[in-house]
Amino acid sequence: MITTDLNLVKKALIEGELVAIPTETVYGLAANAFKATCVDKIFELKQRPANNPLIVHIPSLEFLSQVACEIPEIAKRLATAFWPGPLTLVLKKQVVIPDRVTAGRDTVGIRIPKHPLALKLLQQLDFPLAAPSANPFSAISPTTAVHVHNAFQDKLKFILDGGPCERGLESTIIGFENDQAVLYRHGAISLEAIEEVVGKIPVKNNNEENPEAPGMLSKHYAPKTPILLSKEIAKEVKNHSSKKLGLLLFKDSQGLDKLHQVKVLSLKGDLKEAAKKLYTSLHQLDQLDLDLILTEYFPENDLGRTINDRLKRAVKK
Ligand code: TXA
Ligand code: MG
Repeated sequence: MITTDLNLVKKALIEGELVAIPTETVYGLAANAFKATCVDKIFELKQRPANNPLIVHIPSLEFLSQVACEIPEIAKRLATAFWPGPLTLVLKKQVVIPDRVTAGRDTVGIRIPKHPLALKLLQQLDFPLAAPSANPFSAISPTTAVHVHNAFQDKLKFILDGGPCERGLESTIIGFENDQAVLYRHGAISLEAIEEVVGKIPVKNNNEENPEAPGMLSKHYAPKTPILLSKEIAKEVKNHSSKKLGLLLFKDSQGLDKLHQVKVLSLKGDLKEAAKKLYTSLHQLDQLDLDLILTEYFPENDLGRTINDRLKRAVKK
C-alpha cells in the first residue's frame, strides 16, 4: 500500500517488517539493519544474491560511531562535505552490524540520506535502516512510489510516498584502501565533485577487476524491453525501421519524434536534469510494449559518466 503516514511505516519497521522508503537518489527497500532476520526479508523479496552487501542508512554523523570504526581522516572530510546526501562510504564495521548485511565482509557501506521524510523516519528509530534500491534484482531502479508498487504489488505492506526522487541516480560509493579513497560506483555525486574534496582518486567499478566492489554487476538497471546503446542513433533507427521503437535521448529529439516514441532527458542539455529523469523515462518506455529501446552515449563527464555507466549495464545481455 502506498502511504504518506510516517507512523504506520515506523510501526511496521519496529515490528520487524520490510517497507519501501523514499530517498533523494532512488526508493529503498528498508529493514532494521541490526537484525539479521529482518535483513533476510530484503534478500528474499528482491531475490538478491547473498554475496551482494547492503547500504546502511543512518540519521546523523553522531550515529556513525555506532556502526563503523577506524574512520580514516579522508572519510571524515567526505562525510562533512556531502552528508546528508548521495554518498556512501565503505568503512570498517562495528560488531552490531550482522554479517548478513555486509555479505560477511568486515566493512559496511553507510550513508545519511537527504530526503526529509527518510531523515525524519531515521531520527525517530533507534536502529539504522539497511536498504538496497527497491527493485527486483537487476531491474531498473524505482524513482517513484508507483514504480515500487508496480514491482512488488501486495508483497510489500507499506511504501512511504515521498514524491519523485530529486536526484534519480544511486549514491556514489567510495571505499578506502590504505587510507586512500577509491571510487567503487559512479553515482549522483560526480567524480569531479569528489575530487574537488580529496584530489585525484582511482576508479574500480567492476567486479572483474575489483573484488572490493561486490554487486557491481555488468548487467543491471535493465528494462524488460530489449535495449541498444548506440553512437549513431539515426543509423540505428534506419536499421530497425520495421520495429516499434522507443528512443531515449539526451537533449535533441533529432526529428525522430514524428515516427517514434521519444524521451528527451533535458532540452537544455543539463546533466542533472537528465539524471533525474533517466530511470523514470526508462520505466515509461518499458511500459509501451515496444520492440526495442534505442539510446545514446551521454557526454563522458560529470553525471554523464554515471548515466553512461547505467546505460552500459542496462544493455548487457
Ligand atoms: O542511493 C543508494 O545508494 C540507494 C538508496 C536506497 O540509498 N541504495 C542502493 O543500494 O543503491 P544497492 O543495494 O542497490 O547497492 C548497494 C551496493 C552494492 O551492490 C555494493 O556494490 C555496494 O553497495 N556495497 C555495499 N556494502 C559494501 C561493502 N561493504 N563493500 C563494498 N561495496 C559495498
Ligand atoms: Mg540497486
